[in-house]
Amino acid sequence: MIYFDNSATTKPDSTVLQSFQQISQQYYGNPSSIHRFGLEAQTLLRKAHEQAADILDIDVNEVVFTSGGTEGNNIAIKGIALAHQNKGKHIITSQIEHPSVMEACKSLENIGFEVTYLPVNDKGIVDVHHVQQALREDTILVSIMHINNELGSIQPVKEIGELVKHRTTTYFHVDHVQGFGKVPLSLKKDGVDLCTISGHKIHGLKGTGLLYIRKGINIFPLFDGGAQQSNYRSGTENVAGIVSLVKAMRLINEKQKNNRNYLYQLNQLLRDLLQEISSVQFNTAKDQAPHIFNFSVPGYKPEVIIHALGERDIFISTKSACSSKKPDESTVLRAIGLSEERTKSGLRVSFSYQNTEEEIELFCRSLRKVIQQLSLVMG
Ligand SMILES: Cc1ncc(COP(=O)(O)O)c(C=O)c1O
Repeated sequence: MIYFDNSATTKPDSTVLQSFQQISQQYYGNPSSIHRFGLEAQTLLRKAHEQAADILDIDVNEVVFTSGGTEGNNIAIKGIALAHQNKGKHIITSQIEHPSVMEACKSLENIGFEVTYLPVNDKGIVDVHHVQQALREDTILVSIMHINNELGSIQPVKEIGELVKHRTTTYFHVDHVQGFGKVPLSLKKDGVDLCTISGHKIHGLKGTGLLYIRKGINIFPLFDGGAQQSNYRSGTENVAGIVSLVKAMRLINEKQKNNRNYLYQLNQLLRDLLQEISSVQFNTAKDQAPHIFNFSVPGYKPEVIIHALGERDIFISTKSACSSKKPDESTVLRAIGLSEERTKSGLRVSFSYQNTEEEIELFCRSLRKVIQQLSLVMG
C-alpha cells in the first residue's frame, strides 16, 4: 500500500495510540474533580500544557486544546470577531483558505461583518502589499494560512505579522494545520496572535488539536459551560487525546529537526519523475512546502485516475471538498488563474516522513500505466 494522502489525514503513530489507551484506562478522572483521580488527570493536563508550550515556544497559558483544525479556526475567527466588534467589523483573509476559515468568514458576513478575500498570484501566494492596502482602521482580524492544503504554497506569514504587529486593534491568525512539523513557523518572532494546529495531520488522533491564543487576547467563547481552559473552551478536557496530541507534536517536531531535507528529497524525486510523463502538468510552483504537490492530467477526470490508482493500492486525492460554484472545479486552482481544464483535473500527492523514494518510483510508474490504459479506453 502506498499512502500519499497525508494532507487529508495521517496514520496515527503507534506510541501515540498507546499513550491514548494508557491514559484513557488509568487516568480517566475528570480533571475538575477534587479527589485523587481528578488531581492525577489535572496533573497530566498541566504537564501537557507545559510540554506543548515548550514545543511551540509560547507561554503555558497561551495553549488551548481543541478538537482539531476546524474548531480552532472557528474559535479564533468568530471569537475575535465577536469580542472586538466594537472596534471594527472588517476582516482580511485570502481566496485560498480552508473551508473552516472561509465559511466562518461567510457566517460573519451574514451577521454584518465585512470580509476582504485577497487574491493570490500564480504560485498561490498572497501579496503582502495587498494585505497592507486592505488594512483599514476598522480591521480587527487578518487570517492567512501558512501552507495551502491543495497546493502547498507558502504564505508570507512573517511579513504579514510584521505589518499587523504594530496595530493595537488588529489580530493575526494563522491556520498552521498543514505546516506544523514540516515548515517551521516562529509564533512569537513572526508576530502571530492566534494559530491553529490539528492532531490528525501529524500522526495524532482525529478529534485533537491546539489553538494558540497570545496572552491577554480577549475572545468571545463559542462554548459556554464549566469555564475549563481559562473559559476559552468549556467542556471536560479530553485528557488522553491531549496527552497523545502533545506526543504527536513532539515526535513530528523531532522528525522536522532531524530530517530537515528528507521531504525535500522526496519532492524533488517526484517532480523529476513526473516531468517525464508528457500529459502531466505541474500546478505547484517550485520552492513551496515539500510535502504537498499538485498536478493536473488535463482531459482525464481526477476521480477516474484516483480509482485506477486505488485498485493498485495507491492512495492520492483530488481537491478538498470545498465550496465551489462548480462542484468539480478546485477554487484554489482557479484562484491561481489556471484554465478550466486544469482546475477540473487537479490531483494532490501529500507525503509524510514515513514515505520512501521507492514508493515515489512505483507511484510514477503506476500513474504512467494508468494514463496509458485510460487513453486506450478513451480512444
Ligand atoms: C489548512 C487546513 N485547515 C484546517 C483543516 C481542518 O482540520 P480538521 O480536519 O482537524 O478539522 C484542514 C483539514 O484538511 C486543513 O487542511
